[in-house]
Amino acid sequence: MCWVLRRAECRGDYSAILWEGKQHMPDKQHTLGQYETPTDVADLLLGFCLRRPSDRLLDPSCGEGAFLARAAKWLGWLGDGPNAPPDALWGVELDPETAVRAQTTLPQAHILTRNFFTLQPGGPADGLPGSFDVLIGNPPYTRAEWIGHLREEDGRQLDLFDGLPPSAPEAAEKRLLMPGQLWDSLGGRSGLHAYFFLHGAQFLREGGRFGFVVPNGWLDVAYGEKLKQFLLDHFKILAIIESGVEHWFDDAKINTCLVVLEKCSGPNRRAANMVRLVRLKRPLRALIPYAANDYRRLTALEQLIPRLLPNESRITPDTAVRVVAQADLRPAAK
Ligand SMILES: C[S@@+](CC[C@H](N)C(=O)[O-])C[C@H]1O[C@@H](n2cnc3c(N)ncnc32)[C@H](O)[C@@H]1O
Repeated sequence: MCWVLRRAECRGDYSAILWEGKQHMPDKQHTLGQYETPTDVADLLLGFCLRRPSDRLLDPSCGEGAFLARAAKWLGWLGDGPNAPPDALWGVELDPETAVRAQTTLPQAHILTRNFFTLQPGGPADGLPGSFDVLIGNPPYTRAEWIGHLREEDGRQLDLFDGLPPSAPEAAEKRLLMPGQLWDSLGGRSGLHAYFFLHGAQFLREGGRFGFVVPNGWLDVAYGEKLKQFLLDHFKILAIIESGVEHWFDDAKINTCLVVLEKCSGPNRRAANMVRLVRLKRPLRALIPYAANDYRRLTALEQLIPRLLPNESRITPDTAVRVVAQADLRPAAK
């Protein structure tokens, strides 16, 4: 499957983009990769990543705030009262209209209307804290083929432009979306989510947890190798979770997985870590059987998560879990 740009029409007109020449795409949803995360998916990731009522959390592509809204609820459940502590919730969103909606729904959160790749941890101009306990989210599902065609216009919006040979001086423009160093380190073939892993890692404290919902293609292809190497070099990979029974994002027509990581600078500690490759055999709504506002979800997840992290590979009616030593994982392996 490939995305095709019809060059004559594509300047500034997202509707001119064709999908395999057959299907007109809606505009912002695809160019910005805007897909809202279902509550059950957000809660499963939060169950792994948000562990203390004092945790400070960043969603680097927060959309309308699906994760932040759930995190606010979780912080209330974990702590003493219904409200998250001030300065606990941070979100970044490129699209100004979406960012306004997030800020309106979540007045207690800090929403920065920015391109995440232009931010630095602790950057005084942005007011971002130096490090976070949790980095969580659903980065945009923008395909590799697109990234070279995306640029920031007036610092507000993404636009599309005709492809240029890499040697052309204007090719530097391609990199406005992200620093050249990031682009180079992944070789330009990975989807945008891969760059969110690399840039996001800087914002997490040692021992902090990283949870992302991402398309699962990179696990099986050659261009995923550099991302896998990066993750092996900086994190304990706690779990990679897929569903064998449901698509979490009907709209996206992309199979997704959850990646749960813990930042770890010690090579021996990383090598000793056991990675859990989890396939869920029941829908999430059956595994977390309480309504979104019911605090018993917290208990349900506190019971579910240890079952997803067994010491040995095992198959139950709910899950199939393969346990592999991180030291035995090779980036080139599928
Ligand atoms: C897949 S949506 C996820 C939204 C939300 N986190 C959720 O889980 O429901 C990705 C969001 O990232 C935003 N986005 C795309 N590129 C971005 C960038 N470079 N920096 C910050 N946000 C970006 C899109 O506008 C979109 O709202």
